[in-house]
Amino acid sequence: MSIKPLIEAINSITEGSFEPIKVSAEGEFAELIAALNKMLSSLKNKIEENERKIDDKIFTLYELNYATKWISSTLEMEKLLDVAINMLLEIAQMEKGSIILVNKNTSELVVEVIKDLEGVKYPLQKTQKIEADTRFLTNIIKEGKPFFSNDIKEFKDSGDGLGVNIRTVLSIPLMGKEEIIGVVNLYNYLNNKELTQDELNIISTLSSQVAVSIENAQLFRQIKEFFFNTVRALAATIDTKDSYTHGHSERVTQYSLAIAEELGCNSKEKEEIQLSALLHDIGKIGLPDVILHKPSGLDDEEFEEIKKHPLKGTNILEHIKELTAIIPGIRHHHEKFAGGGYPDNLKGEDIPLSAKIIAVADAFDAMTSDRSYRKRLSYDEAIKRIKDSAQTQFDPKIVNIFVNLFEKDKIISNCESVWI
Ligand SMILES: [Fe+2]
Ligand SMILES: [Fe+2]
Repeated sequence: MSIKPLIEAINSITEGSFEPIKVSAEGEFAELIAALNKMLSSLKNKIEENERKIDDKIFTLYELNYATKWISSTLEMEKLLDVAINMLLEIAQMEKGSIILVNKNTSELVVEVIKDLEGVKYPLQKTQKIEADTRFLTNIIKEGKPFFSNDIKEFKDSGDGLGVNIRTVLSIPLMGKEEIIGVVNLYNYLNNKELTQDELNIISTLSSQVAVSIENAQLFRQIKEFFFNTVRALAATIDTKDSYTHGHSERVTQYSLAIAEELGCNSKEKEEIQLSALLHDIGKIGLPDVILHKPSGLDDEEFEEIKKHPLKGTNILEHIKELTAIIPGIRHHHEKFAGGGYPDNLKGEDIPLSAKIIAVADAFDAMTSDRSYRKRLSYDEAIKRIKDSAQTQFDPKIVNIFVNLFEKDKIISNCESVWI
């Protein structure tokens, strides 16, 4: 047989073809061609397998990139933990998992979220604290290294109550900028397929990003708390201008939040209502003390002066861009549902929701507090008057909600800490 067809076949392999060599031969040539074809088929399989692996890696990197971007862009702790545990379970292909954080003030470990791969959330018993001597977790936090075990004795105290009916656990410390801030526990490989080193690296990288994002969210929460406490102090200052209205803004805020919750407002709307209610009377800061402390009813001129406080409040806050959304609640909390209120004589649905909520809360607290010119009314009498003013002064829908909450004892009991 001529060797030429064989050389042509080898050249086409060099150019990337893995098609079997089809040359008829006999004897040793036939054996050589069979061996070459076997080599070609094995090479082809290996290359295809590698291509599949590269595709998988590209997909995982794409997922990781997406996850990292999302995680680093959110400052809302609950959402962040929720999505982070989902993504880690998805990438690790493990059955369920939890995120446990160290409380910096008490050094306690607190379970923040428990979920399974299907996204089902497990209930936490309020804040599920973990004993500080939980060896399994404290070791991981001390050593700062991921830990894998399939020894049931080692992880039965993994701290989140999931350590039963568990075959395997992977614990990854959450390394913040300076210290370990918590642990991610992932349980039970699906299909008993263990993680490769590459997958472990990806999970560690994602966990580091999660840790940094958690620290950012914690910082954001602190700043927010500081801001709310400052506003609260400001509201208390307004109230102390008049000894009869001590705690008024805080109580109006609690009542308003109870209504907002019942209405199904989202967290952003609730925050705006909270700030609006806390600062609803900020305009009173400019009112003369003689009017605020007057022992008997106000004359027309004094009442006109009092009526300026929603607009004064608006003027004080309108230059703060970040507070634009809370101004309607402040400006319109003395409007009346049927019209005739102040400052803009708005009616019905033209009155912003926050203002309609604050109006009911404000009136109830004013009626049930002593004033310089009259004694407080009983709760039942105040509720009766609120009901009587539905449709004229107040939005009947808000009145209904408020009365229902009162009857379920969700108004007064919510406010016990503010009663002075
Ligand atoms: Fe007011
Ligand atoms: Fe008020």
